Formats: sequence, structure tokens, C-alpha cells
Amino acid sequence: MSIENVKNVAVIGAGSMGHQIAMLSALGGFETVLQDINEKALEKAIDMLEQRMNDWVNKGKLSEEQRRLAFQKLRTTTEIKEAAQDADLVIEAVVEKLDVKREVFKLLDQYAPSHTILASNSSSIVNSKIATVTNRPEKILNMHFFFPPLVMDCVEVVKSEETSDESVQIAMDFCKKIGRTGVLLEKEIYGFIANRLLFALSNEAVYLYENGYADFKDIDLIAKKALGHPMGPFELMDLSGIDVGYYANMELYKETQDPKDRPAKCVEEKVKAGELGRKTGKGWYDYRKEVISR
Ligand SMILES: NC(=O)c1ccc[n+]([C@@H]2O[C@H](COP(=O)([O-])OP(=O)(O)OC[C@H]3O[C@@H](n4cnc5c(N)ncnc54)[C@H](O)[C@@H]3O)[C@@H](O)[C@H]2O)c1
Repeated sequence: MSIENVKNVAVIGAGSMGHQIAMLSALGGFETVLQDINEKALEKAIDMLEQRMNDWVNKGKLSEEQRRLAFQKLRTTTEIKEAAQDADLVIEAVVEKLDVKREVFKLLDQYAPSHTILASNSSSIVNSKIATVTNRPEKILNMHFFFPPLVMDCVEVVKSEETSDESVQIAMDFCKKIGRTGVLLEKEIYGFIANRLLFALSNEAVYLYENGYADFKDIDLIAKKALGHPMGPFELMDLSGIDVGYYANMELYKETQDPKDRPAKCVEEKVKAGELGRKTGKGWYDYRKEVISR
């Protein structure tokens, strides 16, 4: 099988990631079905996509005809069987819980044709942990999109020891067809690459701050001025949610038992205080009365 045989794509889970991945697929010319167990999530997904695509048309990023054709190729359902039965490629983007993903993959394996590739968009769960519930480990892989998928041009395609080269090639070619840069990870590793790099940077930033080497605002300033980063590590933690990094670090620590992977005390204090970043009005910076000052 090759990418030429991929006509129908199913995206499972219509949350922050899934609805935009489905739109990318439809824009790429694939017949796409977006499935979610929650009807409201599907309605919200279509509303948001209509707004977004109208915006693209108004800005000249998309023609009216391209918009119309893409929506013709996109449909929704609450039934996983209906979504999977004709799919050549499935991308799962349900909640980040291993047991839920395994349940979804069990059903996908049951309903999808035997040639269908099943990919997970998980941020951290490696595909071999999910593949064991299926009878097609050679067709299971990770396709890790970045938030928001309609903007971010990168997909980490992750291979397990059992994933076939053919499946990898199709995933990489699919990325190309939807205008995204697919990057292959030859071996599985917790957190993949982008998030590991990010963890390393933010953990070091927190270490330097917690041990009194510099104020967090000055660490952000150095990252921006000296390294050319668009935003400092503390600003980034506030944007993505301090709790998100905290729980990801906890998961990593559970897996490695390495004390250096344990979340720092100052981060734990922020989480306990409910100071989670922009979403709560306060994190490292206070957004209730001021925006980032430097
Ligand atoms: N949000 C991010 O920044 C981001 C980035 C990269 C990857 N991811 C990964 O993408 C996946 C989805 O994340 P999200 O942020 O879109 O989550 P989300 O909570 O916004 O959406 C999850 C959706 O899955 C649906 N769902 C739950 N169980 C289901 C089931 N059994 N069948 C079908 N649908 C089901 C929910 O109704 C919800 O609409 C996660 O694995 C996450 O790790 C998230």
C-alpha cells in the first residue's frame, strides 16, 4: 500500500487537536470523517472550523472554492464504527489517558479494514503501549501534531520496533499532502523530541531560578535576547499551563524514578496555589493587572 491508496481518513476525538487535524486532512483532499462520543464537541468543532476558514478566505489564505471543497469532504459522526469502516488512515486524538486510548484502538482494530493504518496523536504515550490491544502492530504509529495544528508545521512520526517501513512512509507522505513537515523518530522515547527539548529548557530555567542564580524575569530576558527565543521559558510555561508541564514531569518521573525528572518545588507550589498561568490570570506573571512587562 502507498499514499495513493489513502482516500478516506478518520479522526477520532474532536477536541482542540482533532478538529483541526480533520480540517487539514479535508483541505489536503482526503474524504474525512471526524468522530467524537460527544455530539456537542462535534457541533463546536464545525462552528470553530467555519469561523476559522471564513477568516482564511477573508485574509486571502484560501479561496472560496477551496473552502467549499474542503467542507464537502468533511463530515462528522458519533459512531466509531461508521468512522472506521471505510478509513485507510485513522488518527486518534482523544483524551490523554492510556486506558481510553487502548479502548478506542481495540474498537478501531475491530471495525477498520485490515489495511488501515492507526495513528495516535498522543503527546507522550508511545504507540507500542497501545498496539498490544490490536492485531496489527505493524500498522500502528504515532503522528504527533502540535497545537494548533492549523498553524504549526510539524508532525513527529514515531516508529516502534514493530511499525513497518510501509506504514511510516504512508504517514510521512500524508503529512506532505496536508502541507505539514513530518519528522521521523526511529525509536520510541517518552515525550518524543520537541517536548523533551522543551522540558530540558524549562527544567533548567526553573533550577536556575529556584537556586537563586537569577530572577525568572531575567532568565526569560536572557532566553529572548541571547538565544533569540520568541518567548522566555517562564512565559511559555504560563502560556501552556504550569499544571500541564507539572503533570507531564510527574509522568516522566514515575517512569524513570530519576530525581532530576521530579517537578521542582516552586512549580509544585504554583500548581497547589492554582496559579497555573494565563488561564487562571496568574502564573509566573500576573495577568490580572499587567501583561508581560519585558
Ligand atoms: N492540546 C495540545 O496542545 C496537544 C498537542 C499535541 C498533542 N495532543 C494530544 O492530542 C490528544 C487530544 O488532546 P486535545 O487537547 O485535543 O484534548 P481535548 O480534551 O480538547 O479533546 C479530546 C476529545 O476527545 C473526545 N473523546 C474522549 N473519549 C473519546 C472516545 N472514547 N471516543 C471518541 N472521542 C472521545 C472528547 O469528547 C473530546 O472532544 C491527546 O492525546 C493529547 O496528548 C494535545
